[in-house]
Amino acid sequence: MAADLSQFIDIHVHILPGIDDGPRNLDESMAMAKAYVNIGVSRIIATPHFIPGTAWAAGLDCIADKLRELKELFARKDIPLTIFPGMEIAYHKKLMNRLEHGMLQSLGKSDVYLLEPSFSDSSNALLECACQMMASGRGVILAHPERIPSFQETTKPLVDLVDQGLLVQINIGSLLNKFGESSKKLAMHLIEKSSVHFLASDSHATTRRCPPSRIEWEVLKGLLGDDLLTRLCVTNPRSLVNYN
Ligand SMILES: [Fe+2]
Repeated sequence: MAADLSQFIDIHVHILPGIDDGPRNLDESMAMAKAYVNIGVSRIIATPHFIPGTAWAAGLDCIADKLRELKELFARKDIPLTIFPGMEIAYHKKLMNRLEHGMLQSLGKSDVYLLEPSFSDSSNALLECACQMMASGRGVILAHPERIPSFQETTKPLVDLVDQGLLVQINIGSLLNKFGESSKKLAMHLIEKSSVHFLASDSHATTRRCPPSRIEWEVLKGLLGDDLLTRLCVTNPRSLVNYN
């Protein structure tokens, strides 16, 4: 069956206003929402950055408030877009502690967490943390490893952990060569190894790093085929938001 863009559930989106490097205000959030509605997408997960010690570290209450504000706005303006809560959690030493204290937001209605690797550090501690999270019974999705230099050097530790249950999300922009050849190459390599479970936009705005266009969706179809695109963008994301 043809992969249907309107069924795409984008699990990695920076759309909440004023809490990270996504939209600065409600108007910009609204512009992103309209971009999704224009391509027929009706469900996304808001994943603001959580990077302790920086300005991008909104907690659960703040996320809930921003989400409520957007939902009310969408209801008033008749915007048919459902937003589920989420968080893009940067690896940090106190992550497990914060997790055990219920301070981190899972994706949608699941017990699965989106973990962001560092662009500059070794990935050893991050992968160890992912192991601990999985051992505690939670699911872990690693965000865009194809963009990370340590994974571009070697994929073995990552692929080994996928065999143990780690889930992997790659960015649509990587497949479209928006982050350079190395990212595209690793994204395709991980797909060939059956080590990718989710494809998401990681969108931040309506200009650069934005929701996919209909033309880009067709390019993705050509690259991956209908079945795989549907699995990565529709079927697997559905399990996070409990829609069957
Ligand atoms: Fe992100």
